[in-house]
Amino acid sequence: MIEKIKQIEQEAQTEIATVQTLDHLELFRVKYIARKGLVPTLFDSLKTLESSIRPEMGKHLNDLRNKVQKLFDDKKEALEKNLHSEKESIDLTLPGRKRWIGTKHPITQTLDEIKRIFFKMGFEVAEGPEIEDDYHNFEALNFPPDHPARDMQDTFFVSDKILLRTHTSPVQIRVMEKQKPPVRVIMPGRVYRNEAISSRSYCLFHQVEGLYVDTRVTFSELKGTLVAFAKQFYGSNIKFRFRPSFFPFTEPSAEMDITCFLCKGSGCRVCKQTGWLEILGCGMVHPNVLKNVNYDPDKYSGYAFGMGIERIAMLMYGIDDIRILYQNDLRFLKQF
Ligand code: DAH
Repeated sequence: MIEKIKQIEQEAQTEIATVQTLDHLELFRVKYIARKGLVPTLFDSLKTLESSIRPEMGKHLNDLRNKVQKLFDDKKEALEKNLHSEKESIDLTLPGRKRWIGTKHPITQTLDEIKRIFFKMGFEVAEGPEIEDDYHNFEALNFPPDHPARDMQDTFFVSDKILLRTHTSPVQIRVMEKQKPPVRVIMPGRVYRNEAISSRSYCLFHQVEGLYVDTRVTFSELKGTLVAFAKQFYGSNIKFRFRPSFFPFTEPSAEMDITCFLCKGSGCRVCKQTGWLEILGCGMVHPNVLKNVNYDPDKYSGYAFGMGIERIAMLMYGIDDIRILYQNDLRFLKQF
């Protein structure tokens, strides 16, 4: 019996040294410790011994059982610790994880560039509410009460006198109500129109409004500023023209065209074969508008302009459907 005990102890010691995995350790347990294992089997055979030596053998067997159990426990602890630290260890040879950096929306990029150019010319930025009242959106801007733009067709009304602004021009009024001349601001923002949605028009879009009011502001300053802007934005070799137009809040009014930068003026689908692209509306602030904000029209004059951003962005980036700008499709946005 003593021999047997020693033999098993030695075997167990050699064997545990070769155990590298938890699976292997389980085999060890089954072989030595489990109910049918070598050690319990020896305990069973105690019964067959003479009662005089049983207590002593029992003691040896207990020793064996404790030793084997300790071999098992130590190994188990070591293997589990190893497993754990393997999980946490950092493999410096792995390639880095790619970090996705977002890009600015093409509308934001276009707006940023427009702002940058006007900043350099001394303009500040002002903003106004998207939910406007009829007074600021129409009345103060000299729209007659029966003007078609007030029509339900174009304007989203919130209530009788409250609406979603249809252009950024009401911000002109809000700025002038708060500030005395000289005023030199650009006013970017969202505007809303109740139009049939198509590839060319959407129920919301962006505009940038400009306003300069001071003593003796002239139409030639308006032209000079807008030409300087257009050359920086579209390229110094563009040609331009001003066409007479009409807006209730400016007099005289004009629209500015530049040579189509796609066909360079020879005529294409985008410029509808005219060679020209209309880029903005502008004019000298109407005296009635100045009066509405308590500016003396005899003392002050000013110019204003407004442009749509989507149209510009679409031309610049060759986007042929306005709706795609609002779908947040990453396949589209990632290109910018
Ligand atoms: N508010 C006009 C529109 O939405 C654009 C515009 C034209 C703004 C002439 C102006 C301007 O400030 O002077 O169509």
